[in-house]
Amino acid sequence: MDLRLDRFLCELNIGTRSQVKAFIRQGVVAVGGVPATNPDRKIDELSDTVTFRGKPLQYRRYVYYMMNKPEGVVSATRDNVSRTVVSLLGKDAREDIFPVGRLDKDVTGFLLLTNDGDLAHRLLAPKRHVDKTYLAVLAHGLGRPEIRRLEAGVDIGEERPTLPARVELLTEDGILREDKVLLTLHEGKFHQVKRMLQAVGNEVVGLQRVAFGGLRLDPKLRPGEYRELTAEELAALKDDCREV
Ligand code: URA
Repeated sequence: MDLRLDRFLCELNIGTRSQVKAFIRQGVVAVGGVPATNPDRKIDELSDTVTFRGKPLQYRRYVYYMMNKPEGVVSATRDNVSRTVVSLLGKDAREDIFPVGRLDKDVTGFLLLTNDGDLAHRLLAPKRHVDKTYLAVLAHGLGRPEIRRLEAGVDIGEERPTLPARVELLTEDGILREDKVLLTLHEGKFHQVKRMLQAVGNEVVGLQRVAFGGLRLDPKLRPGEYRELTAEELAALKDDCREV
């Protein structure tokens, strides 16, 4: 594959486009052991050995991060008003990274960020049904009839009712909490959890996504923190959205 040398260095977070161009002109970048002084030069990022100040650079085509999205941050790459999830990646924020799907600004929890457009497309395809699980804190206790309605599918003003959801009340210290519920959805409509609870006369006062496909949010990640997916997690995610 052919990639411009300056772009290659940017994607590895060596510096901004103008900084890496300056490094190249200074002669501190070498390709195959020979200083490369032209930023427009094309390299084969998979087979060429590129060094920066003598240190070899390892290129990775795709990156995958699990983030615990905090409140008040938008699931976007750019925004004129609010901070974005991509800006939370700091030095890891490559130009081509984006969030897979969206969580509302006030919603926290599992957000996948990647530059793998093909996987993102498959994860979001409605026909593949990658499950998402949410922990919702409710304004009122949820009764049996409402649980049965959510499990059957409710009218949220779309063409069809929602698909059946899995609903589980939580227990805390052995006591059933009717106002804390785990909801697993097999689809992802706009504001879906909030609208489903509204449809049964309740209100979501706090919402966190705790699982995405077969992956659970790492409890070690505090809001705003992220880490790379392990090889096993990535394999599980790819398996979740394979063609059936
Ligand atoms: N359901 C919602 O209401 N909001 C989200 O962000 C995700 C699911």
